[in-house]
Amino acid sequence: MRTLKLQKLSGSLGARVIDLSLLNLTEACFNQIASALWENLVLVFKNQKLPIEAHLHLGKKFGELHTHPASKGVEGHPEILWLMNSGKSKNITEVWHTDVSCDEKPPSISILQSIQIPEFGGDTQFANQYKAFETLSPAMQKMITPLKAVHSSFGLESIHPVVRTHPETGRKALYVNNGFTKRFDGMTVEESQPLLDYLVIHASTPDMTMRHNWSTGDIVMWDNRCVMHYAVHDYGDAPREMHRVTVAGERPR
Ligand code: SIN
Repeated sequence: MRTLKLQKLSGSLGARVIDLSLLNLTEACFNQIASALWENLVLVFKNQKLPIEAHLHLGKKFGELHTHPASKGVEGHPEILWLMNSGKSKNITEVWHTDVSCDEKPPSISILQSIQIPEFGGDTQFANQYKAFETLSPAMQKMITPLKAVHSSFGLESIHPVVRTHPETGRKALYVNNGFTKRFDGMTVEESQPLLDYLVIHASTPDMTMRHNWSTGDIVMWDNRCVMHYAVHDYGDAPREMHRVTVAGERPR
């Protein structure tokens, strides 16, 4: 059985998996990928160009797939979220967020494949939310740990802990974001906003991040339970097209 070859992408999170095709993975190799994901939070696989069925198959290995509540899927495949940013119109992925945290059962893993990439720009940034929690002062950690927050969008509203314990690693991660978190449970928006702003700014400082510069056919997978991300729109009106397979729940055991 071969061992995954990994190359770290920043001091905070992210690793590139070298020389591996995601087609026809053995169970042993998939288990190594899952372990590498728990350890590195984001994994990059260059030059994959996975057919739709293989992309879906990879997602299903992590658990039941999520269908986006509002955005349209790829023709005939509602579980493949189609992200097409043509023209500089703001969309929900261009803020620090974790995927669909307004869902009662928010996604665990996202697996994004680049279909069409602008000549320049269009990177995705990722931020380590274990580190975000661990670098708060003990007093702030203590204050926010019992809090819950209201996340809403797309007509959905859910309440989640502000600090989540990761089911695979047992580590604590901060879980608020600019895309969906509206207020702390039991508080008004006005009362909540200053602390929410502080937490997201803290959680996305450059020291906590890595950045992926895409080529067509790359696959990047990340763990939404401990990672925030941001799609940078710095490519003007050029088209940028991505397919995302999103895992709804936890990994079957
Ligand atoms: C996403 O937010 O899931 C998409 C990120 C991207 O398009 O870079």
